[in-house]
Amino acid sequence: MCGIVGYIGHRDAQSIILKGLQRLEYRGYDSAGIALFDGKNINITKTKGKVSDLDNKINNLKFRGSQIGIGHTRWATHGIPNDVNSHPHCSNSGEIVLIHNGIIENYAAIKTELINRGYSFKSETDTEVLVNLIEDIQKSGNYMLGKAVQIALNQVVGAYAIAVFDTKKPNEIIVAKLGSPLAIGVGKDEFFIASDASPFIEYTNNAVYLEDEEMAIIRLHKEARYRKIKSDTLFDPYIQKLKLNIEQIEKGGYDHFMLKEIFEQPKAIVDTYRGRLSVNQGLIKMAGVEDYIEKFLSAEKITVVACGTSWHAGLVGEYIFETLARIPVEVEYASEFRYRDPIITKKDIVIAISQSGETADTLAAIKLAKKHGAFVFGICNVVGSSISRETDAGAYTHAGPEIGVASTKAFTTQITLLTIIALRLAKAKGTISQTNYKKYLVELENIPSKIEKVLEANPGVEKIAKIYKDASNFLYLGRGFNFPVALEGALKLKEISYIHAEGYPAAEMKHGPIALIDENMPIVVIATKYGHYEKIVSNIQEIKSRKGKVICIVTEGDTQVKEIADHVIEVPLSSELLSPLLTTIPMQLLSYYIAVLLDKNVDQPRNLAKSVTVE
Ligand code: F6R
Repeated sequence: MCGIVGYIGHRDAQSIILKGLQRLEYRGYDSAGIALFDGKNINITKTKGKVSDLDNKINNLKFRGSQIGIGHTRWATHGIPNDVNSHPHCSNSGEIVLIHNGIIENYAAIKTELINRGYSFKSETDTEVLVNLIEDIQKSGNYMLGKAVQIALNQVVGAYAIAVFDTKKPNEIIVAKLGSPLAIGVGKDEFFIASDASPFIEYTNNAVYLEDEEMAIIRLHKEARYRKIKSDTLFDPYIQKLKLNIEQIEKGGYDHFMLKEIFEQPKAIVDTYRGRLSVNQGLIKMAGVEDYIEKFLSAEKITVVACGTSWHAGLVGEYIFETLARIPVEVEYASEFRYRDPIITKKDIVIAISQSGETADTLAAIKLAKKHGAFVFGICNVVGSSISRETDAGAYTHAGPEIGVASTKAFTTQITLLTIIALRLAKAKGTISQTNYKKYLVELENIPSKIEKVLEANPGVEKIAKIYKDASNFLYLGRGFNFPVALEGALKLKEISYIHAEGYPAAEMKHGPIALIDENMPIVVIATKYGHYEKIVSNIQEIKSRKGKVICIVTEGDTQVKEIADHVIEVPLSSELLSPLLTTIPMQLLSYYIAVLLDKNVDQPRNLAKSVTVE
């Protein structure tokens, strides 16, 4: 879960790498480092903290002008975040320099072997073991660096995306990948290396995404050579044309990426259904589903595997699929699914949901499902990601880059996509009337403008945030389709404001959580018009009799809840099925404003990373 960047070419490597690392901080941000080489001298600067700390440190030292370099932003796995454990790591001779995203699982055995052979280690990392293994192989067999890297990678178990160079051969960087992503930007007489394409989009739109067990030898003023690590065969890479642009990865005038992404949701949802939904013709068309429609229709059950927010979207999907298409759905945490013995057969469909498409547990769950013969369908946001490649078929949410660590537009676009798929299957199965089908198509098309309206109520949410920002605990309650939204609301608050919060189905409150309620407990309740409204009103009464503070999300024009709640936030009227797309918005805003008022780092909350590539 780290970010790596490298450059070889005619520009100033330092500025390219530092800017690139900043764009990759979503992958980890507890320490950072850079190695710059001007052909004679190597400068390595490392620091605990963020890329901005590295920038300050390096600017005091002035290493401008190097045209080869590698850099790293870290999310610690082996060894605490400190200067020494930060990457890049050097071999004992100081000649080989390496950055690594991933985990070398058998590092301890290799380390013992290397210590017996006279090597010493400064850090606690698995990466320092790998760089010394490469040096040991290079020296003992008198190999070129590329060959030594290849032999070493055949000895390690685990995951890696690495970039490595040898100060004795200043015009060459070797990169390799297994399990962690690695993109190579191909420019004119220059190459960029990165965990994703964002560090190099302003320089080139030609990218090669290495597949697992592939490596490349990148040399200045020459063609790169691509090789399979295991079979040792050369291959011609597929050069992808990138569609990403620089505006998409900048804040665009917002204070934080999270706020920008919350406000982007109307557009993101349109981008999700564009080309897939034709309301006039009453049609839904999705290549990934059409090509496998028989499989979907004959499926005995659907199992959703996902983590975190994507798991919450899967839960909403369960309600949607079962209601519309009458297919039984189970939603599993990918991390649990992968380590139990799930009953999955070739008659099953597994839907894997992931914004990043890189979540290690979800990837492992997919592999297990495939082993059982299930057909695996992926719902991802990041184009070309590992999950999108590993699944049998799938669809992209097209939400655009999500950079804030707390997921917002990923959630609503995942729900949108699940709704479209469920409607398509319901139509094919005949489990929905033509009137309802048409009604949902029209309603889905109108959701973005309804979200715009919710976003306009933003100042009201900020006022509520000011009142409750110092609470120690929050409860979030919802029923039916909005129960997963309550879970998601609580997760959003926890992760960016560090306030303890729990989500519950509203009726479960009396089986335990009600004991927590007193005058200091704010409770966010989703009480929209359709979906057990009267029952929810009773739940609110129960809270008020125990002096809890109630913040309700209600349908425009509601009068009954307004009478009893402490605060209400209105959302436009919608069917219960589509209401999560609206009710989730005030919850995202509430968490955002509380975190800002508490002066927390909204886009990069502590201990988290955007892409969880370790299990
Ligand atoms: C919460 C959040 C995480 C992710 C989870 C899965 O705001 O962002 O809970 O949802 O790590 O990530 P993806 O969707 O990339 O698989």
